[in-house]
Amino acid sequence: MNTVSPSDSPPLAAGGAVVGQPAVGQPWPHESATLHVTGRAHYVDDLPELAGTLHAALGLSPVAHGRLLGVDVHALRREPGVVAVLTAADIPGRNDCGPIVHDDPILATDELRYLGQPVFAVIATTREAARRAAAQARRVLQFEPWPAVLSVRQAHAAGDHVVPPMHLVRSQSADAAGAPDTAAASVRRAIDQAPHRLAGSFSLGGQEQLYLEGQISYALPQDDGGLKVHCSTQHPSEMQTVVAHALAIAAHQVQVECRRMGGGFGGKESQSALFACVAALAAKALNRPVKLRLDRDDDFLITGRRHGFEFDWEAGFDDEGHLLGYEVTLLGQAGHSADLSPPVMTRALCHVDNAYWLPEVAMHGYLPRTHTQSNTAFRGFGGPQGALVTEVVLDTIARHLGRDPLAVRRANWYGRSERHTTPYRQTVTDNIIEPLTDELARSARYAERRDAVQVFNASSPILKKGLALTPVKFGISFNVNHFNQAGALVHVYVDGSVLVNHGGTEMGQGLNTKVAQVVAHELGLPLSRVRCTAADTSKVANTSATAASTGSDLNGKAAQHAARQIRDRLATLAAAAWECAPEQVAFAGGQARTPDGRHIAFDALVQQAYQARVQLWSDGFYATPGLHWDRQTLTGRPFFYFAYGAAVSEVLLDTLTGEWKLLQADLLHDVGSSLNPALDIGQIEGAFVQGMGWLTTEELVWHPESGALLTHAPSTYKIPTANDVPLAFTTRLYGGENTEDTIHRSKAVGEPPLLLAFSVFLALRDAVAACGAPGCQPPLSAPATPEALLRAIRAVQPGAATPTGA
Ligand code: MTE
Ligand code: MOS
Repeated sequence: MNTVSPSDSPPLAAGGAVVGQPAVGQPWPHESATLHVTGRAHYVDDLPELAGTLHAALGLSPVAHGRLLGVDVHALRREPGVVAVLTAADIPGRNDCGPIVHDDPILATDELRYLGQPVFAVIATTREAARRAAAQARRVLQFEPWPAVLSVRQAHAAGDHVVPPMHLVRSQSADAAGAPDTAAASVRRAIDQAPHRLAGSFSLGGQEQLYLEGQISYALPQDDGGLKVHCSTQHPSEMQTVVAHALAIAAHQVQVECRRMGGGFGGKESQSALFACVAALAAKALNRPVKLRLDRDDDFLITGRRHGFEFDWEAGFDDEGHLLGYEVTLLGQAGHSADLSPPVMTRALCHVDNAYWLPEVAMHGYLPRTHTQSNTAFRGFGGPQGALVTEVVLDTIARHLGRDPLAVRRANWYGRSERHTTPYRQTVTDNIIEPLTDELARSARYAERRDAVQVFNASSPILKKGLALTPVKFGISFNVNHFNQAGALVHVYVDGSVLVNHGGTEMGQGLNTKVAQVVAHELGLPLSRVRCTAADTSKVANTSATAASTGSDLNGKAAQHAARQIRDRLATLAAAAWECAPEQVAFAGGQARTPDGRHIAFDALVQQAYQARVQLWSDGFYATPGLHWDRQTLTGRPFFYFAYGAAVSEVLLDTLTGEWKLLQADLLHDVGSSLNPALDIGQIEGAFVQGMGWLTTEELVWHPESGALLTHAPSTYKIPTANDVPLAFTTRLYGGENTEDTIHRSKAVGEPPLLLAFSVFLALRDAVAACGAPGCQPPLSAPATPEALLRAIRAVQPGAATPTGA
């Protein structure tokens, strides 16, 4: 091969990109930004429907608990437009879509387990006809109602849990004495012997994902008995697996594709499965394309969401607020089945420490079964729940001691070279919480504003201000070791354009943009030359869920690995012609070039490589190194590294109405060396606002007798809007490279910043405390709705009953 020759042509400037502007580290817009805002982005429901497409709708259990005696299928078949009615008996394979424990029927069999559980599917010529027939559920179902358990505490007291309890106990003194069996006793002693002791309970609500695009699957029968399923899912490979099991066919007969989701937020990790299975089942049974798109109310009634938690805690501490001993019991509302609750609880337990050294700690995690939707992943995956209880405890300790909450937090920070082993025995080697929070406290003028808030409150009897600074430390990687792997497939076409497929899914977070940036960087191309395609189980096999914020860490590395192999082949070709070493050939600015100035346009080199029969596509693979986890003892190194952040929030509370406003929020968040600062800041702001919704306005209410979810649409379930974003809102990235060898030394950003919203909740608690005597403890539960705030205000006000507090 000798046609590669030095050329005098200027560097390429394809696609309008600025030559030399690096693909990685720049604030490139989201790859679909224009499509999103012009409404031209295709979601599953936008795909042109094939002729003969039928529509499915689900008939739901009208009771929270009961024995299912039968379904009057014949009555349903007589409804207009109805083509078929499917029940559990029509499932040829396994009637299960549970991701771990396999206790999740696709369609109910003998037991009705929650109000809203799918019992049958109606397949009709139109979506409206299917829904009208499915709405007859109460009339066509024969059942015997049983008493339902709706309260977590009640289920816990009855000893009904979806999986056995998890205990994580660490005693520094028992470890040092080499007697781990005495750890629990030693934690007890630490609490009992501490100079101060407090105990309390804290109630924390769940949260609906409220992805804008609801759950949807469109299944197309193939000519050989196989199926193609377009599914809005974070986990195409698992959808492939559950569909294959339900239909009793091999995985290679099922292809699952997802171009993009209109949001997932964890709600489409496992819980897209039921809909994929029903659409596939119907398509297979009728040999017609079948689409199942949920109505929003049904989506709320059928699917689970973030686990609400109940906590009971006890803490022993000294005059500075050092947490000397700490015991906490966590009850996470699992709902009717296990779903992802076990790993959610594991992550909760692994985040009780948040940013703090807990020398003597005992945690007990229980997952009570209630006759409600099965709770699942939601941004943070239990981590936010585990970390929040400790923030509330520290806030309580600070008020008890009459110290500033930030001072008490500071007293408990993890150290850098000591006091740095987590309760699950991972050493925190990358700790930056102290400099990060110091920088934020300075830039947000925490101390001055704390004084100003006090002055304001002293002269304002009705309106009260509150201020809080809270930290975040969030572990990155799946606790389940084997999920920490990814694959990619990179194609270079003869015109020099590049197509990338990887194991991740795009849900708005910008993963495809980041992966394309990585590939463009490796090949020295402008970003416009690289495109990512839909996630597709027929291109990259056995993928992990795009979850745990690991999307760009895993798939970025896998795509880099693939692109590097192609680059190396091209370098070898050029080096042979230029008679230099392949390592001397660099790729940048749309060219391959040597340090002494020889260069060739990437497109021309690719042409020559094709002629020379050089392979221009490659697969890539990545597995996160160094992880280990013992499920029995809940110890090991579950996380590759930690992401850090902190936020200061200031609120203004009307103590007569419980209404409030976020006046100012300042966020400082660590993303390592950012792959894309624009996307990262978007993720941080979005997560903060979403977390604020969880802890303030988003309240889930089930009818105490029927078990019906009463808040099943945006009309009754209040998510934050653009109006809730404070006028004074700063978001900054904390500089610095990841100390671990992640993709371009970046850090995951999807979930950790959700915890920044703790500052809003604790600022509200601060404002409520201003209504009472010094040292009062507002009994504020989350979400801090106006009602909850009023209750807490009344409880701390002197002479409790009069709202004016006179
Ligand atoms: N951002 C948008 N716009 N939409 C989403 O659905 N999901 C979040 C987060 N950010 C989500 C999002 C959740 S729950 C996770 S785990 C991560 O994105 C997943 O993507 P990543 O691993 O690529 O960060
Ligand atoms: Mo995110 S809760 O891990 O999908």
